Amino acid sequence: MTKASEHTENPPAVVVSGLTKEFKLPMRAGRFRAVEDLSLSVGEGEVYGLIGPNGSGKSTTMKVMLGIVRPTKGSCEVFGMSSNSSKSRRLVGYLPENPYFYKHLTGVETLRFYGELCGLRGGALGKKIDQLLDMVGLQDAADRRLGGYSKGMLQRIGLAQAVIHDPKLVVLDEPTAGVDPQGSRQIRDFIMDLKSRGITVVLTSHLLEQVQEVCDRVGIISKGRMVREGRLDEMVAVEELTEIVLKSPSPQLIDGIRELVAKDADSGAELVRVGHPRTTLERLFIAATSGAEAGKIDNEKQEGGTQ
Ligand SMILES: Nc1ncnc2c1ncn2[C@@H]1O[C@H](COP(=O)(O)OP(=O)(O)OP(=O)(O)O)[C@@H](O)[C@H]1O
Ligand SMILES: [Mg+2]
Repeated sequence: MTKASEHTENPPAVVVSGLTKEFKLPMRAGRFRAVEDLSLSVGEGEVYGLIGPNGSGKSTTMKVMLGIVRPTKGSCEVFGMSSNSSKSRRLVGYLPENPYFYKHLTGVETLRFYGELCGLRGGALGKKIDQLLDMVGLQDAADRRLGGYSKGMLQRIGLAQAVIHDPKLVVLDEPTAGVDPQGSRQIRDFIMDLKSRGITVVLTSHLLEQVQEVCDRVGIISKGRMVREGRLDEMVAVEELTEIVLKSPSPQLIDGIRELVAKDADSGAELVRVGHPRTTLERLFIAATSGAEAGKIDNEKQEGGTQ
């Protein structure tokens, strides 16, 4: 039995332990260390974000989880099984950073092709394809060839193929790269839907606001090393500040609060800012291009948050 599964009945979805990956350089130019002594663990049902600058080793680490790249040192387990085993691979769905698709196939044919590769057939596969096209918003383009798909549409068909075999872990390498804000939001909803069904997601993105919206935990990689890892809400909380959001307060109420805080000045309490919370450029863009209300604040996002 493996180390990760010794202590718990349900092993974590992913355990990377002391991973080092070196690539051989051509022309006997030596070796390049892309990942160095990196460890991380992703609990079942979590959404985990791997972030870091270009070339920091994110895609390489993901490829190790998929068994596409073999560790030079260290190990990776997926649900308690070595990521090199074909058994673990069956539980994983993958959207690569530069997905390649057959351009002459239509959306439906593409999903049928990947579904059949995973052993799905007949009515069950047809139903699954309809459901996935609906989930990624491509019903209208289902019978168009991929050669005519836009970047965002290709990304969405890529997401659909990644989950066609109902994987327990979905690895998404920059799922929103080149996708417009509406499309990104659909992809976010897609990821949240996976999470609500208990599916584990590991993703990378350079769009940190999106990472912040969907991830439970993040790991920050720099030059192949993990430099910070933890629960996102704990990492971004500003401990010494407390935010209270009031709807339509009267000027008198605000004055009353100011006075109360002033009375308590001895305790060190201080009113830092009174003003209207700002919406994000992303929400403004979506509102302006979809007819929704521009200033609408997402209650769920505001509650308990500290800026
Ligand atoms: N097959 C390979 N052969 C040689 N070097 C490689 C190979 N794959 C990756 N590398 C190198 O390893 C380093 C890490 O690459 P990786 O693709 O993991 O970075 P990344 O964090 O995903 O970057 P990005 O944000 O640009 O996608 C880079 O310097 C890259 O050039
Ligand atoms: Mg990458």
